[in-house]
This record gives sequence, C-alpha cells and structure tokens, in this order.
Amino acid sequence: HRSTRPNPQRKTDIMLTMSTSTTTSTTAATGRVDASRARPRPIILDCDPGHDDAAAIILALGNPAIDLLGVTTVGGNQTAEKITRNARSVLRLCNREDVPVHQGASRPLLHDVEVAAQIHGESGLDGVELPDPTVPVAPGHAVSFIIDTVMAAAPGEITLVATGPLTNIALAARIEPRIVGRIAELVVMGGGFHEANWTPAAEFNIWVDPEAARIVFEESWPITMVGLDLTHQALATAEAEEGIRRIGSELSEAFLGLMAFFRRAYKENQDFDDPPVHDPCTIAYLIDPAIVRTRRAPVRIETHGQYTTGATVVDLRGQAPENVHTQVATELDHAGFWRLMTEAIAALS
Ligand code: BDR
Ligand code: CA
Repeated sequence: HRSTRPNPQRKTDIMLTMSTSTTTSTTAATGRVDASRARPRPIILDCDPGHDDAAAIILALGNPAIDLLGVTTVGGNQTAEKITRNARSVLRLCNREDVPVHQGASRPLLHDVEVAAQIHGESGLDGVELPDPTVPVAPGHAVSFIIDTVMAAAPGEITLVATGPLTNIALAARIEPRIVGRIAELVVMGGGFHEANWTPAAEFNIWVDPEAARIVFEESWPITMVGLDLTHQALATAEAEEGIRRIGSELSEAFLGLMAFFRRAYKENQDFDDPPVHDPCTIAYLIDPAIVRTRRAPVRIETHGQYTTGATVVDLRGQAPENVHTQVATELDHAGFWRLMTEAIAALS
C-alpha cells in the first residue's frame, strides 16, 4: 500500500522519525490500551462525501493530532462512484493526494440504494467546482484496505471513523472478525438518542443500511456514537464562518461555497437557519474529547420497526452497565469545535 511508505507529509512518519519512545494511555470509552496517544492518532476515515464528510477530511488532514492513513468510501449521500471522486477532489484541494482513496460498497447489505441528493446535490458536493483529482482510485477494495491496515498494525493502534452508512465496516467485521479486538476505537457519525432526520425515528446513515449498523453495534468493539443530538449543535453560524472567511484562501473559499449550498439545502428540507456540520464532530472528539462530551450507554439498532426502522435505541436510564462497549456524544463545545475547523483550514491553506 502506498500508505505504508514513509512520506514526509504524513504526521506519523514525521513523528516516528522524531521520537523513538511512545507512551501509552487508555481510551476514555473502554479502558483499552491506546498505543497511538503519544503521537498523531492513525485513523481510517470511511465516508461518503458529502459536504460534512469533506469537512471531516479537512479536519483530519489539518490537525496535528490526527494521521489520516486512508479514506475509504461507501455509497450513501450519492453513488459510490460520485462520492469516491469527491473524496479525491477534496484531497487535491488540500494538496494531500498522497492519502489513498479506496472505493467500497456501492449498495447496502439488503436494501436498495438511497441517496441524499436533496441535501448534497446531484454531484454529492454541489456548490463549488472542485478540482479534478490527479491520482487514481487506489487499488484494492475499501474493506480489504481496512482489514489489512488494522491487521498489520499493533493491537490498539488504528482508530476507525465512519461518517457514512456502515456497510463497509460491517463487511470488514464479518470477513475478518479479529479486527474487532484490534482497533483502538470506532467512532460513528450516525443515529441519535432523541433526534432523527431521515424519518421521524431514524438518522440517514443508519436508515440507509440498518442491518449493517446492527452488525456493527452488536460487535464488542468500543464504539462512540456521535449522533444528531450532538451534531445538531455543530451549526455553521455566521460567526463561525467569519473566522474562516478571514483566511481568504482557495480552500477557505471552497469550504464556504460548500457551506452556502448546505445552508440552502438544510433550510429547504429541514428548516434549519444554519446547517449542522455533522461528520467532523467525530474527528473533533478524537482530537479533544473535552470538545465532544460523551456518556456511556447501551445502543441497539431497530431493523424491523413498523415506523422506527433505523432508530438507534439508547438506554439512558440510570447507570450504564459495567461492561457496556458503547458511548454516545451529548454536548458540544461549539466555539472549540469551530476553532479546530478554522485552524485546520488555515493550516492547509
Ligand atoms: C449524515 O448523513 C449525511 O447526509 C451526512 O453526510 C452525515 O453523515 C447526517 O445524518
Ligand atoms: Ca456522511
């Protein structure tokens, strides 16, 4: 894989050459050993760009605490072909085409494809003319890349972040069950305990592939669910955008162009005055858990409800059981989150 070659732009490679010692710490969610804390945390981002997925890529690339090993794509906001191209265009915009993009599942496990064109447009990233990618899609299926990367790394080394439907992650867990015990953590943008968006009960990513979500949440790996209760706090307010506008770069202008489309789409479809920028909240949580507060709680996925298929049923009654492997995000430091986004855009500009 290209990602395993030393690359002076990659933060882990830089840090590994700078530092011979690493210290370990434990993740808040699970008590598991996290070998990556002393240096940038190596992550794989499984996504479907998508305006807010693009923001997640930017935050992962632009913050020194994160090392983005690869982007894997899954059909969701638009078709797998369109969103895979979008991921590559965003990397080009950030001058980081060294990060490999592996295309993944083009449809959910059981259901038909359902895209979110009303939110993300026909291209999946409407609102700006993005540059054509110059690097081809990386060889090898997204699921193979996830499995190979996790199995080649030390236990507790790799963090998986999923900001689209969970099809690739479910397939990876079924094809190579050992990855479940080897990752540091799985951070999912999806679901909600009180909030929903695609149906009265379900959030889009879970709704698109509820069976995959059920597989993923029933595995024992530590999961942080960054759901709508949290991401609906991540509003791109005029004040948040003003700091980004002051950067005045090609990237900041592109970001604001994407947000302008997102703003109109969210107003028309869900009557939001400012759009909620969901997906980068997962990365913000990894950078600084004080910015995304969490609470341990069991999560179940509804796959057969008469009105509730795709719901994430979160048990917030009393104390969580001792052995719970899931936690849910509850409260966002809005200013802290937008400070991270602004700094990342500035760093990549
Ligand atoms: C989620 O659905 C998608 O449209 C967004 O990219 C985000 O991942 C929000 O429900
Ligand atoms: Ca997404």
